[in-house]
Amino acid sequence: MGKDVIIACDFASKEACLNFLDKFEGRKPFVKIGMELFYAAGPEIVREIKSRGHKIFLDLKLHDIPNTVKKSMAVLSNLDVDMTNLHAAGTISMMEAAIEGLIRADGTRPLLIAVTQLTSTDQERMENDLLIKEPIDKVVMHYAHNAKIAGLDGVVCSPLEAGKVHDACGEKFLTVTPGVRFAEGDVGDQKRVMTPAEAKKIGSDYIVVGRPITAADDPVAAYTRCVDEFCD
Ligand code: C5P
Repeated sequence: MGKDVIIACDFASKEACLNFLDKFEGRKPFVKIGMELFYAAGPEIVREIKSRGHKIFLDLKLHDIPNTVKKSMAVLSNLDVDMTNLHAAGTISMMEAAIEGLIRADGTRPLLIAVTQLTSTDQERMENDLLIKEPIDKVVMHYAHNAKIAGLDGVVCSPLEAGKVHDACGEKFLTVTPGVRFAEGDVGDQKRVMTPAEAKKIGSDYIVVGRPITAADDPVAAYTRCVDEFCD
Protein backbone atom coordinates (compact mmCIF):
# COMPACT_ATOMS: atom_id res chain seq x y z
CA MET A 1 0.00 0.00 0.00
CA GLY A 2 1.65 3.24 -1.14
CA LYS A 3 1.55 6.43 0.87
CA ASP A 4 -0.88 8.98 -0.53
CA VAL A 5 -2.30 12.44 0.00
CA ILE A 6 -6.11 12.55 0.33
CA ILE A 7 -7.77 15.92 -0.34
CA ALA A 8 -10.70 16.64 2.02
CA CYS A 9 -13.30 18.00 -0.41
CA ASP A 10 -15.38 19.81 2.20
CA PHE A 11 -17.61 21.69 -0.24
CA ALA A 12 -21.30 22.55 0.15
CA SER A 13 -22.34 21.58 -3.38
CA LYS A 14 -21.53 19.30 -6.29
CA GLU A 15 -20.70 22.30 -8.52
CA ALA A 16 -18.16 23.72 -6.06
CA CYS A 17 -16.48 20.35 -5.73
CA LEU A 18 -16.33 19.62 -9.46
CA ASN A 19 -15.04 23.14 -10.24
CA PHE A 20 -12.28 22.52 -7.73
CA LEU A 21 -11.36 19.12 -9.21
CA ASP A 22 -11.36 20.58 -12.76
CA LYS A 23 -8.29 22.61 -11.77
CA PHE A 24 -6.27 19.40 -11.58
CA GLU A 25 -6.71 18.73 -15.33
CA GLY A 26 -5.03 15.36 -16.01
CA ARG A 27 -4.18 14.54 -12.39
CA LYS A 28 -6.48 12.41 -10.27
CA PRO A 29 -5.93 13.03 -6.56
CA PHE A 30 -7.43 10.68 -3.94
CA VAL A 31 -10.41 12.64 -2.52
CA LYS A 32 -12.34 12.48 0.73
CA ILE A 33 -16.10 13.05 0.56
CA GLY A 34 -17.55 13.84 3.97
CA MET A 35 -21.02 14.23 5.40
CA GLU A 36 -21.54 17.82 4.22
CA LEU A 37 -21.01 17.08 0.53
CA PHE A 38 -22.64 13.63 0.64
CA TYR A 39 -25.80 14.92 2.32
CA ALA A 40 -25.96 17.90 -0.05
CA ALA A 41 -25.22 16.11 -3.31
CA GLY A 42 -26.16 12.47 -2.61
CA PRO A 43 -24.62 9.23 -3.95
CA GLU A 44 -24.48 10.81 -7.42
CA ILE A 45 -21.46 12.89 -6.41
CA VAL A 46 -19.60 9.68 -5.56
CA ARG A 47 -20.45 8.13 -8.94
CA GLU A 48 -19.45 11.32 -10.78
CA ILE A 49 -16.07 11.69 -9.06
CA LYS A 50 -15.38 7.97 -9.40
CA SER A 51 -16.19 8.10 -13.14
CA ARG A 52 -13.59 10.86 -13.47
CA GLY A 53 -10.98 8.40 -12.24
CA HIS A 54 -10.38 9.48 -8.64
CA LYS A 55 -10.02 7.18 -5.66
CA ILE A 56 -12.58 8.02 -2.96
CA PHE A 57 -12.52 7.91 0.84
CA LEU A 58 -16.20 8.15 1.86
CA ASP A 59 -16.07 9.62 5.36
CA LEU A 60 -19.55 9.03 6.83
CA LYS A 61 -18.50 7.56 10.22
CA LEU A 62 -21.26 4.97 10.64
CA HIS A 63 -22.41 4.02 14.16
CA ASP A 64 -25.59 1.95 14.62
CA ILE A 65 -26.68 -1.60 15.43
CA PRO A 66 -24.62 -4.25 13.57
CA ASN A 67 -27.41 -5.27 11.17
CA THR A 68 -28.06 -1.70 10.06
CA VAL A 69 -24.36 -0.98 9.62
CA LYS A 70 -23.86 -4.19 7.63
CA LYS A 71 -26.66 -3.34 5.18
CA SER A 72 -25.58 0.29 4.87
CA MET A 73 -21.98 -0.72 4.22
CA ALA A 74 -23.18 -2.98 1.40
CA VAL A 75 -24.81 0.05 -0.23
CA LEU A 76 -21.65 2.17 0.16
CA SER A 77 -19.44 -0.64 -1.15
CA ASN A 78 -21.55 -0.84 -4.30
CA LEU A 79 -20.75 2.82 -4.95
CA ASP A 80 -17.25 1.46 -5.61
CA VAL A 81 -15.51 3.65 -3.02
CA ASP A 82 -11.92 2.79 -2.11
CA MET A 83 -12.06 3.56 1.62
CA THR A 84 -14.81 4.20 4.17
CA ASN A 85 -15.13 4.43 7.95
CA LEU A 86 -17.15 3.94 11.15
CA HIS A 87 -16.93 4.67 14.88
CA ALA A 88 -15.03 2.02 16.85
CA ALA A 89 -17.36 2.91 19.75
CA GLY A 90 -19.99 0.80 17.96
CA THR A 91 -18.17 -2.29 19.35
CA ILE A 92 -16.30 -5.20 17.77
CA SER A 93 -19.52 -6.92 16.62
CA MET A 94 -20.60 -3.79 14.77
CA MET A 95 -17.19 -3.57 13.08
CA GLU A 96 -17.27 -7.26 12.10
CA ALA A 97 -20.75 -6.80 10.63
CA ALA A 98 -19.47 -3.78 8.68
CA ILE A 99 -16.72 -5.87 7.07
CA GLU A 100 -19.26 -8.54 6.08
CA GLY A 101 -21.45 -5.87 4.49
CA LEU A 102 -18.55 -4.36 2.56
CA ILE A 103 -17.46 -7.56 0.81
CA ARG A 104 -18.62 -7.43 -2.80
CA ALA A 105 -19.78 -10.34 -4.92
CA ASP A 106 -16.29 -10.61 -6.46
CA GLY A 107 -14.65 -10.86 -3.01
CA THR A 108 -13.14 -7.34 -3.05
CA ARG A 109 -14.02 -4.62 -0.54
CA PRO A 110 -13.06 -1.00 0.23
CA LEU A 111 -10.55 -0.35 3.02
CA LEU A 112 -12.33 0.11 6.35
CA ILE A 113 -10.92 2.57 8.88
CA ALA A 114 -12.14 3.25 12.42
CA VAL A 115 -12.56 6.57 14.18
CA THR A 116 -11.38 6.10 17.79
CA GLN A 117 -12.19 9.10 19.99
CA LEU A 118 -12.96 12.23 17.97
CA THR A 119 -10.27 14.87 18.38
CA SER A 120 -13.03 17.22 19.55
CA THR A 121 -13.53 14.98 22.62
CA ASP A 122 -11.09 15.75 25.43
CA GLN A 123 -10.44 13.94 28.71
CA GLU A 124 -12.92 16.06 30.65
CA ARG A 125 -15.82 15.60 28.21
CA MET A 126 -15.08 11.87 27.93
CA GLU A 127 -15.17 11.46 31.70
CA ASN A 128 -18.16 13.71 32.38
CA ASP A 129 -20.34 13.12 29.32
CA LEU A 130 -19.44 9.53 28.45
CA LEU A 131 -18.47 8.27 31.92
CA ILE A 132 -15.23 6.81 30.51
CA LYS A 133 -12.69 7.30 33.28
CA GLU A 134 -9.52 5.90 31.68
CA PRO A 135 -6.83 8.20 30.19
CA ILE A 136 -7.86 9.22 26.66
CA ASP A 137 -4.61 7.87 25.10
CA LYS A 138 -5.40 4.46 26.55
CA VAL A 139 -8.96 4.63 25.22
CA VAL A 140 -7.70 5.56 21.73
CA MET A 141 -5.24 2.64 21.70
CA HIS A 142 -7.90 0.25 23.05
CA TYR A 143 -10.32 1.24 20.28
CA ALA A 144 -7.52 0.83 17.70
CA HIS A 145 -6.84 -2.64 19.06
CA ASN A 146 -10.56 -3.52 18.87
CA ALA A 147 -10.60 -2.35 15.25
CA LYS A 148 -7.68 -4.64 14.49
CA ILE A 149 -9.36 -7.61 16.21
CA ALA A 150 -12.50 -6.99 14.12
CA GLY A 151 -10.40 -7.18 10.94
CA LEU A 152 -10.36 -3.50 10.01
CA ASP A 153 -7.49 -2.03 8.02
CA GLY A 154 -6.59 0.89 10.28
CA VAL A 155 -7.68 4.00 12.12
CA VAL A 156 -8.07 7.72 11.64
CA CYS A 157 -5.76 9.39 14.13
CA SER A 158 -3.63 12.43 14.78
CA PRO A 159 -0.23 12.19 13.06
CA LEU A 160 1.17 12.42 16.60
CA GLU A 161 -0.47 9.08 17.43
CA ALA A 162 0.53 7.26 14.22
CA GLY A 163 3.79 5.87 15.62
CA LYS A 164 2.10 4.51 18.75
CA VAL A 165 -0.68 2.91 16.72
CA HIS A 166 1.88 1.14 14.52
CA ASP A 167 3.80 -0.02 17.60
CA ALA A 168 0.64 -1.49 19.14
CA CYS A 169 -1.17 -2.79 16.06
CA GLY A 170 1.62 -3.50 13.58
CA GLU A 171 3.24 -1.66 10.67
CA LYS A 172 0.60 -2.87 8.21
CA PHE A 173 -2.29 -1.40 10.24
CA LEU A 174 -3.03 1.85 8.41
CA THR A 175 -2.93 5.30 9.96
CA VAL A 176 -4.97 7.96 8.16
CA THR A 177 -4.08 11.32 9.60
CA PRO A 178 -5.77 14.74 9.32
CA GLY A 179 -4.38 17.84 11.06
CA VAL A 180 -1.69 18.53 8.45
CA ARG A 181 -0.36 22.04 7.79
CA PHE A 182 2.56 23.55 5.91
CA ALA A 183 5.34 24.85 8.15
CA GLU A 184 4.44 28.50 7.51
CA GLY A 185 0.67 27.92 7.11
CA ASP A 186 -2.40 28.91 9.09
CA VAL A 187 -3.30 26.32 11.73
CA GLY A 188 -6.99 27.38 11.74
CA ASP A 189 -9.13 25.35 14.16
CA GLN A 190 -6.77 22.34 14.23
CA LYS A 191 -5.05 22.03 17.60
CA ARG A 192 -2.26 19.51 17.04
CA VAL A 193 -0.71 19.72 13.59
CA MET A 194 2.23 18.37 11.62
CA THR A 195 3.76 19.17 8.24
CA PRO A 196 3.48 16.56 5.47
CA ALA A 197 7.22 15.83 5.87
CA GLU A 198 6.84 15.26 9.63
CA ALA A 199 3.80 13.03 9.08
CA LYS A 200 5.88 10.95 6.69
CA LYS A 201 8.70 10.67 9.19
CA ILE A 202 6.41 9.50 11.97
CA GLY A 203 4.87 6.83 9.75
CA SER A 204 1.43 8.07 8.61
CA ASP A 205 0.17 6.00 5.69
CA TYR A 206 -2.27 8.58 4.32
CA ILE A 207 -2.53 12.28 5.14
CA VAL A 208 -5.91 13.99 4.81
CA VAL A 209 -5.44 17.62 3.81
CA GLY A 210 -8.33 20.07 3.42
CA ARG A 211 -7.96 23.84 3.63
CA PRO A 212 -4.19 24.03 3.01
CA ILE A 213 -5.09 22.78 -0.50
CA THR A 214 -8.74 23.80 -1.04
CA ALA A 215 -8.24 27.38 0.20
CA ALA A 216 -4.80 27.89 -1.42
CA ASP A 217 -4.32 30.50 -4.14
CA ASP A 218 -2.92 27.68 -6.27
CA PRO A 219 -4.49 24.39 -5.09
CA VAL A 220 -2.60 22.27 -7.61
CA ALA A 221 0.75 23.68 -6.41
CA ALA A 222 -0.27 23.09 -2.77
CA TYR A 223 -1.28 19.50 -3.57
CA THR A 224 1.99 18.93 -5.44
CA ARG A 225 3.92 20.24 -2.46
CA CYS A 226 2.10 17.81 -0.15
CA VAL A 227 2.88 14.90 -2.49
CA ASP A 228 6.55 15.95 -2.79
CA GLU A 229 6.94 16.25 1.00
CA PHE A 230 4.92 13.17 1.97
CA CYS A 231 5.22 10.57 -0.78
CA ASP A 232 8.78 10.88 -2.14
O1 C5P B 1 -9.16 21.63 6.35
P1 C5P B 1 -8.47 20.58 7.17
O2 C5P B 1 -7.11 20.18 6.61
O3 C5P B 1 -8.41 20.91 8.64
O4 C5P B 1 -9.41 19.29 6.98
C1 C5P B 1 -9.21 18.10 7.68
C2 C5P B 1 -10.29 17.11 7.33
O5 C5P B 1 -10.13 15.97 8.17
C3 C5P B 1 -11.71 17.61 7.54
O6 C5P B 1 -12.54 16.99 6.55
C4 C5P B 1 -12.06 17.10 8.92
O7 C5P B 1 -13.43 16.89 9.09
C5 C5P B 1 -11.30 15.78 8.95
N1 C5P B 1 -10.95 15.30 10.30
C6 C5P B 1 -10.19 16.03 11.20
N2 C5P B 1 -9.90 15.52 12.43
C7 C5P B 1 -10.34 14.31 12.77
C8 C5P B 1 -11.11 13.55 11.91
C9 C5P B 1 -11.40 14.09 10.65
O8 C5P B 1 -9.75 17.13 10.88
N3 C5P B 1 -10.02 13.82 13.97
